[in-house]
Amino acid sequence: MSRECDAIGGINLGQGICDLPTPPAVARGAKDAIDQRKSTYSRYEGVDLLRKAIAMKLERDNGLTVDPETQIITTIGATGAWATTCISLFDPGDEVILFEPYYGYHLNTLLVAEVVPKFVPMAPPEWKVDIAKLAAAITPKTRAIMMCTPSNPCGKVWTRAEIEAVGKIAEKHDLLIITDEIYEYILYDGRKHISPATVGNLQSRTIMMGGFSKTFSITGWRIGFLVAPPELAKTIGLVNDLHYVCAPTPLQIGVAHGILDIEQEYYQDLAANYQKLRDMFVKSLKVAGFVPYVPQGAYYLLANFGKLGWKDSRTAATELLRRAKIASVPGTAFHQSPIGDTMIRFCFAKDDDVLEEACRRIESLAGGVQPVAAAASRGTPRASRDSERQKSSAVVAEKPVATKSANGNGHAKKAKPKKNGSAKPASKGTRASAQRRFEKRAAKRRAGKAASRGTTRASRVKGRQ
Ligand SMILES: Cc1ncc(COP(=O)(O)O)c(C=O)c1O
Repeated sequence: MSRECDAIGGINLGQGICDLPTPPAVARGAKDAIDQRKSTYSRYEGVDLLRKAIAMKLERDNGLTVDPETQIITTIGATGAWATTCISLFDPGDEVILFEPYYGYHLNTLLVAEVVPKFVPMAPPEWKVDIAKLAAAITPKTRAIMMCTPSNPCGKVWTRAEIEAVGKIAEKHDLLIITDEIYEYILYDGRKHISPATVGNLQSRTIMMGGFSKTFSITGWRIGFLVAPPELAKTIGLVNDLHYVCAPTPLQIGVAHGILDIEQEYYQDLAANYQKLRDMFVKSLKVAGFVPYVPQGAYYLLANFGKLGWKDSRTAATELLRRAKIASVPGTAFHQSPIGDTMIRFCFAKDDDVLEEACRRIESLAGGVQPVAAAASRGTPRASRDSERQKSSAVVAEKPVATKSANGNGHAKKAKPKKNGSAKPASKGTRASAQRRFEKRAAKRRAGKAASRGTTRASRVKGRQ
């Protein structure tokens, strides 16, 4: 979709690429670190300066007290935090709850780790959670509940009452809570971010993930972090070391300077600017006949396209690209249930003038879907048929992977929280189950099942959303 969009000079509101300038304190901190030849590996858990800065920020902004020495791991983005958490703590066949609509990476990372996702729907327009449905989704194999707040793709900001309700279920069934709080500073209409770890006694069973890609507009730097009880942090940290060694050292230092030097005003302006963009975008969508589900945070928006007459979300995304030269993502990329096929997702983290132009194009759809520019309809019939074909295959590629479950054959559990709340670190079970997995694969190979080559972990997943 992104490639198609580039090829026709479209505006890409499909992917969450925020290309705002990097705050000078962050850039300067990293440049100075490079000039001072601080370019070697750091400790796997990250440079001291950054972990201390994160601990300070957690205390100041989140109301969370943590020991930077034992509870914080610097990761390769929040993505790296999630990947290492899944690989460290779950066995194939374990189950993890995802609220739907979900972020594609949350799903795909589970699938690659052969962990079985269990979906609990949230209902638009406010994306309310039915706690009875959550309770019903828990089985003896459930290990964790993933909460994304503010959420990509729907912009839901979880309230204290909702977190408490989920927390009760987690406590009752002795589950981990894993949070993705990457958009914690992007909140609208005066909302406050609540870190689930600060609610009740949840800290002892919560792995909080965060990062600076969005807060400092440094998506390419790959600096994130996780906060966990010490035993879990150690287990995950070792896998982080194994896979990544460490996050880029000078960039860790740059981020640390950003956290330490940047004033609160920066964070307020960040949210206020995105809110301005959100409001402008919502208005244009309404003019065009969409029904936008107005986000409470983050910078994505799901919009229902029913009134525009498109039959499904793939058609909607394809037609929007063809007629308005705007790339979006079909709602099926974030849902298992059919409701996904009634909506598409936009990312409005764009420069003002780019979003203004996107709004003009979207508004031009009002009163019937018309091409916005002559160029959009200039192609020869043959060429346009060809590009149509490519577009629709690009859109298909955004569809989520099939949720083929791992076989769930009762592998040993790892790091399951103890009844008293603190979770056990992965121990022998980890190696034993790895050994079983290895033997199983070796047996498959010996049996000459070439088919196993086509069912690699990676083959379960498709591109970014
Ligand atoms: C919910 C969510 N988590 C994590 C990420 C990626 O974060 P990072 O760049 O820190 O890996 C994104 C990026 O779009 C996201 O939307």
